[in-house]
Amino acid sequence: MYHTLKFTYLAVLAAQIGVSLSHPSLEHIERLFVPLTMGVASNWGAIAHTTLTSTGATLITGNCGTCPGTAITGFPPGKCTGTKSAGGTAACSAEAACLSAYNKARAASPTVALPAADLGGLTLPPGVYTFPTAAGSLTGNVTLNGAKNANGQFIFLLSTTFEAAAASKILLINGAKACNVYIIVGSSATIGAASALQANILAYTSVSVANGASNKGVLCALNGAVTLINDALTTQAKC
Ligand SMILES: *[C@@H]1O[C@H](CO)[C@@H](O)[C@H](O)[C@H]1NC(C)=O
Repeated sequence: MYHTLKFTYLAVLAAQIGVSLSHPSLEHIERLFVPLTMGVASNWGAIAHTTLTSTGATLITGNCGTCPGTAITGFPPGKCTGTKSAGGTAACSAEAACLSAYNKARAASPTVALPAADLGGLTLPPGVYTFPTAAGSLTGNVTLNGAKNANGQFIFLLSTTFEAAAASKILLINGAKACNVYIIVGSSATIGAASALQANILAYTSVSVANGASNKGVLCALNGAVTLINDALTTQAKC
């Protein structure tokens, strides 16, 4: 009641000085942030626009494919335990779901500015994060903490490239979930050898993963290729 009266008073005051007020409330603030979902792409380990190429003993636990491209190379000896779709309807639906998630992520708010271009050594709560530079990186470990909200999403928005150095890790603590981590890359993503990431990595151009790395989530290349070498990709159930 007090709040309502106070707002009414402010509105009258605002009208008198010629500005318009919108009524702020917690409900409104929460509505600004609609959780992202990978939709039908969530059970795809890797999906590329042009080509999907693997060297060596890559294991994708889930589906893999290309759309509209039709070149899938290196399977076998690489293995894709689910559907392998070269330009088929299933791959095209997954690619469309990737694009939809990418566009929604770009519009997510409110955003939090990171202190540095590199995520290494940081422990972060859920949020929508922007980098101080066009390119961003991960050297070492970043810890994503679900203590404040185990269902919270961790969204990283990069204008250009994302590069994870060799042996980098995304660590999840206090209930944070891999399916809620999104790295949104304005150009291409490069994942270093023996890295252990847990994220949906949606790159405007390509995703290239070096030898012996792993990821829990989806790798999407919206306009280019996904390239793998002896990697282990494991899909995550929808959050
Ligand atoms: C990264 O985390 C792992 C545990 O998964 C730990 O063994 C390693 O020392 C950490 N590296 C750094 C640079 O903190």
